[in-house]
Amino acid sequence: MHPTLAPYPASRPRRLRRTNALRGLTRETTLTADDFIWPVFIREGNDTEDPIASMPGVARLSLDRLLVRAHEAADLGIPAICLFPYTEQHLRTEECAEAWNPENLTNRAIRLLKAELPDLAVMTDVALDPYNINGHDGLVRDGVILNDETIEALVKMTLAQAEAGADIIGPSDMMDGRIGAMRGALEAAGFQDVAILSYAAKYASGFYGPFRDAVGASGRLVGDKKTYQMDPGNSDEALRLVARDLSEGADMVMVKPGMPYLDICRRVKDQFGAPTYAYQVSGEYAMLRGAADQGWLDGPRVMLESLTCFKRAGCDGILTYFAIEAARALRSGAI
Ligand code: PBG
Repeated sequence: MHPTLAPYPASRPRRLRRTNALRGLTRETTLTADDFIWPVFIREGNDTEDPIASMPGVARLSLDRLLVRAHEAADLGIPAICLFPYTEQHLRTEECAEAWNPENLTNRAIRLLKAELPDLAVMTDVALDPYNINGHDGLVRDGVILNDETIEALVKMTLAQAEAGADIIGPSDMMDGRIGAMRGALEAAGFQDVAILSYAAKYASGFYGPFRDAVGASGRLVGDKKTYQMDPGNSDEALRLVARDLSEGADMVMVKPGMPYLDICRRVKDQFGAPTYAYQVSGEYAMLRGAADQGWLDGPRVMLESLTCFKRAGCDGILTYFAIEAARALRSGAI
């Protein structure tokens, strides 16, 4: 499409920017509450939440508090919630067996949510880092992250989550071959309707710092994740990984982080047309929130602007810690 403009003054593009009504009429992308997947940190206990210092306004919630907030999300029209557990220290081991314990925190949360709010989609995270003594997403032997052994663990984790009632499985581990293995296992076990949202283009990013505080992995992480997460300088590789994951049975794909990677979102959407999501990660939230709290940025405004830009870049939806606040702002008409 090559829109042409008549020469000035026949064309004065400002005509259509003159009023709110005209701007609304000609806006190319809009944001609504059903664009959001809300990532939530959960913890053991009752009637408790602990604020996360590096993510002002975000806390780890005990499951009773989770239910209250999940009701709020559903009432605001948010379609999906994504669970991230803070695992008790004594359950973190080298084998990561807690990851596929049917009674682990995440699986209990899934059952609770599906019993109470069956229409709210529940997404999970599949990676070993919340359960791993060394903070890595995969099993580690002699300092090496093991690919194929990790996949076996991830498949067990996936099946336990599907069994608990998860609607969307979110592999964030970046091992090779995991999507095919998970898809095969889900089919074989009769979970043909469980969707996979693959973290297909996940970069080795400094923007995950606050998240690692939230799940208690920062102090533990030995080394970095560069042998499995992507190099920030790469773009063609993202397309190859998305192609691979779709061909192995992913239903939806993700680019992560979000805002510094909007060019990747656009390329992925243009190339594949698949349901495409971006994760506005913890560090992005912290930047916007921190600056707003200092009075340096207009918080509600940059929140909605940043989220709209994901839509403009081709995303069908966004994982965002702002989901509740943004849905509320949209409802009140504050654009
Ligand atoms: C790990 C995982 C990470 C995030 C989601 N899943 C962190 C990492 O890869 O180290 C980051 C999310 C965020 O920063 O908000 N499986």
